[in-house]
Amino acid sequence: MLPAGVIADHGRHPGFRTGPAACYILAAMKSSQITIPQPDDWHVHLRDDAMLSTVVPDTARHFARAIVMPNLKPAITHSAAAAEYRARILAALPRGSTFEPLMVCYLTDHTDATDLSAGAAQGIFTAAKLYPAGATTNSAAGVTDVTKLDNVFEAMSVSQVPLLVHGEVVDDDIDVFDREAVFIERILAPLRARHPQLRIVLEHITTAEAVAYVAAADPDLLAATITPHHLSVNRNAMFQGGLRPHMYCLPIVKRERHRRALESAACSGDSHYFLGTDSAPHPRADKESACGCAGIYNSPTALATYLEVFERANALDNFSAFAAENGARFYRLPLNETLVTYTRSQTPLETAPVSESGVVIFQPPFALHWQELKRDV
Ligand code: NCD
Ligand code: ZN
Repeated sequence: MLPAGVIADHGRHPGFRTGPAACYILAAMKSSQITIPQPDDWHVHLRDDAMLSTVVPDTARHFARAIVMPNLKPAITHSAAAAEYRARILAALPRGSTFEPLMVCYLTDHTDATDLSAGAAQGIFTAAKLYPAGATTNSAAGVTDVTKLDNVFEAMSVSQVPLLVHGEVVDDDIDVFDREAVFIERILAPLRARHPQLRIVLEHITTAEAVAYVAAADPDLLAATITPHHLSVNRNAMFQGGLRPHMYCLPIVKRERHRRALESAACSGDSHYFLGTDSAPHPRADKESACGCAGIYNSPTALATYLEVFERANALDNFSAFAAENGARFYRLPLNETLVTYTRSQTPLETAPVSESGVVIFQPPFALHWQELKRDV
């Protein structure tokens, strides 16, 4: 947690925090303002080419840094490709932006451990990503058998490069809603037993099983990102009055009890959990199709959604930990020095339903009220 005073004003008087009368007053008062170090997005898809230039400003507007996923076509599998991709991201930034993209190596069955370690030593790679082959968008070149990469994981353990994991098994006989829980049992637990010093982020967790598994580990060795959509909708959202392709992502959203477990985990401020939007834009026609792609575009609404979730859980005191501190600490990076103040408007915000380039933007099933008021650089 930050020293007292950095989180300036939640619209509550400290004296109102205990006792039944205090609860009544708290419920009656609406928090109005919160000041935290600028948040980072520890999991985002910025894509490439025309899409890159339209989505980068939406991430750079809100976040100081982001872990940029490498599942391009072709994937970012070498440090030279990562350096070039990073330059394209920087070139797409709005003038004056100080946004910092943090690059990730896409692991394949043939990953060159020497290039990965050298890229990490040069500051090109911040982490490496494990996509089980066939698990999600652009994962065809991913890993077919994790045991083939034991030498890579050994090198990553030594050089302390975090392994980011898309935690789903893809076997046909495993129900799509069980893929994450089965992955933890069959793949992740044995992998961690083989490489006890490997530092791992289980990305975009979606289940109570994942929350419990991560909670039991040393937070310096195992952490998890949580998305705004997994915090705000359950699987009913995909079938509300018909098939809703814009609510389809992987790992797929789960039952309400899982959403609640994620909400408790994120809102606890526990250092195992931090913000990762998994914002994953696809052209509208690719989503609204007979075989629509997985991925939800939420960069424009993500922060407002997270803030609303924390407010509804009466947990704004823990928002800084989740959005601006836990991730930086896991990645051993300094907290951002810029302080951002968010304010709650009395009336719901009007948010655009689609981006300028026509990508449908995620809207949670509740009104949004929080927006940035000011920055102190
Ligand atoms: C992501 C994408 O579109 O790149 N899709 C998604 O549903 N989350 C890939 C991923 O993170 O799984
Ligand atoms: Zn992702």
